[in-house]
Amino acid sequence: MQRAKVGVLISGRGSNMAALLYAAKAESCPYEIVLVAANDPDAPGLALAAAEGIATFGQSHKGLKRAEFDRIIDAQLRAAGADYVALAGYMRLLSPEFVGAWENRMLNIHPSLLPKYKGLDTHQRAIDAGDSHAGCSVHIVTAELDDGPVLGQTPVAILPGDTADTLAARILIAEHQLYSRTLADFVTRERQPDWLLNKVREIALAMPQAEETLSHGMPCFGVAKGKKFGWFTRDHHGDGIIALLVKTSAPDEQATLIEADPARYYRPAYFGNDWVGIRLDLGDTDWDHIAIRLRASWRQIAPKKLLGLMDIAEEF
Ligand code: GRF
Repeated sequence: MQRAKVGVLISGRGSNMAALLYAAKAESCPYEIVLVAANDPDAPGLALAAAEGIATFGQSHKGLKRAEFDRIIDAQLRAAGADYVALAGYMRLLSPEFVGAWENRMLNIHPSLLPKYKGLDTHQRAIDAGDSHAGCSVHIVTAELDDGPVLGQTPVAILPGDTADTLAARILIAEHQLYSRTLADFVTRERQPDWLLNKVREIALAMPQAEETLSHGMPCFGVAKGKKFGWFTRDHHGDGIIALLVKTSAPDEQATLIEADPARYYRPAYFGNDWVGIRLDLGDTDWDHIAIRLRASWRQIAPKKLLGLMDIAEEF
């Protein structure tokens, strides 16, 4: 299994970074840490990461414009080959350019049950409000501070006599477990059959008069009362493969595709020479390409009247 490459950004202690890093030592962990970077060269977390053999980068942001500093960090992340970014106590507001560049690829951990208590001083605010539980959240980073879809949360009971410090210490234990688990789920979600099927479904059902049915246990997409243009196969006859089958649009296209990329394309059993299987479980699916293939497949089977409508629509 290809492990997802994660860059972690910290500002200080880096205990969440350490938790992510130690979890990644398990062979079954679907991510690896490729870089730990900090906006303070003396951040204690950097020394810890370096001692574990992880590449580190530390530079103060002082004297640099926000976007300028973010460009430096971005370049470091890319040079390290990071696919994802995990913010772990990174005490910097991010420029919109940086957030945009890592859209849906950057997570953060926050010590509250979001949407409650965004920003700082979260533990005291939870105690002062008389809440029964505080906790922590992992969310996708968007332009707004501590906003963005929440991926996972752990509630932590507030004890009588808790101070901000005692509560923070207990929440930190929950943070260390939640972050690694959530990050692991996040980097593998694009390989999960349900996620892949939904993605195919979204594209396929956007075609004129497309409908989904189930045939031979496989979800498939066709023109209503007409022929099918896409099949979603998931471990069919125990082959362990998740793939999309589409109709090809030229006589030798199946062979050409298989020859060009034999790891991705294959000849689907029982479908003949004018269909091709495209693996969706390799972790690097180009969804624009899948959309093009599905459209071309739809064109192969769509009745003339619909094709005319599609031509008109595509002109706009
Ligand atoms: C954690 O409480 C985290 O939730 C918050 O900042 C703190 C960082 O601690 N965003 P550490 O550097 O991971 O130990």
